[in-house]
Amino acid sequence: MNVLKIETTSESSLYDFGKMLSEYLLPNMTVFLKGDLGAGKTTLSRGVLHGKGHEGKVKSPTYNILENYNFDNFIIYHFDLYRVKDLEELEFMGFRDYFHKDSICLIEWPEIAMNILHEPDLVIDINFKNDNRVLYITSKSKELLSTLTQKIANEN
Ligand SMILES: Nc1ncnc2c1ncn2[C@@H]1O[C@H](COP(=O)(O)OP(=O)(O)O)[C@@H](O)[C@H]1O
Ligand SMILES: [Mg+2]
Repeated sequence: MNVLKIETTSESSLYDFGKMLSEYLLPNMTVFLKGDLGAGKTTLSRGVLHGKGHEGKVKSPTYNILENYNFDNFIIYHFDLYRVKDLEELEFMGFRDYFHKDSICLIEWPEIAMNILHEPDLVIDINFKNDNRVLYITSKSKELLSTLTQKIANEN
């Protein structure tokens, strides 16, 4: 299977999906989070961060572009590129340096920096209508995608 499709009907189930997903996100990985404003990109990120053991709040990075979260052996960089108008802004903040072997990068609105981003490990595209969310998940790693597919199948 090349695309994993998941449907959720509540904010909490999307959050829980993020928590579950966190187990499979390892240092050196990049995740693209696509979908319009209000799709649930930040909600999912919140699940991932809490799933990894972060105990505090998870602020949407909309205004600061970047929020970082330190863990024992790695760091999570949570980006929201929505407000980036010019790629030079990203060059200025040393954007490329955030992608390294000890970081996990979650990127909302990756479309904005397509020209300078490398291929991600996971792409999560969230489509929505009212309270329904349909996630389309793809990965360059067949193994990761099939592991996630198995996990979801076992939970249902
Ligand atoms: N099934 C659902 N999953 C996630 N969020 C939902 C759902 N239904 C409604 N919502 C609402 O949609 C919004 C998602 O916001 P957010 O996660 O900040 O989106 P984004 O980061 O994509 O702009 C929240 O206000 C949330 O309450
Ligand atoms: Mg957001």
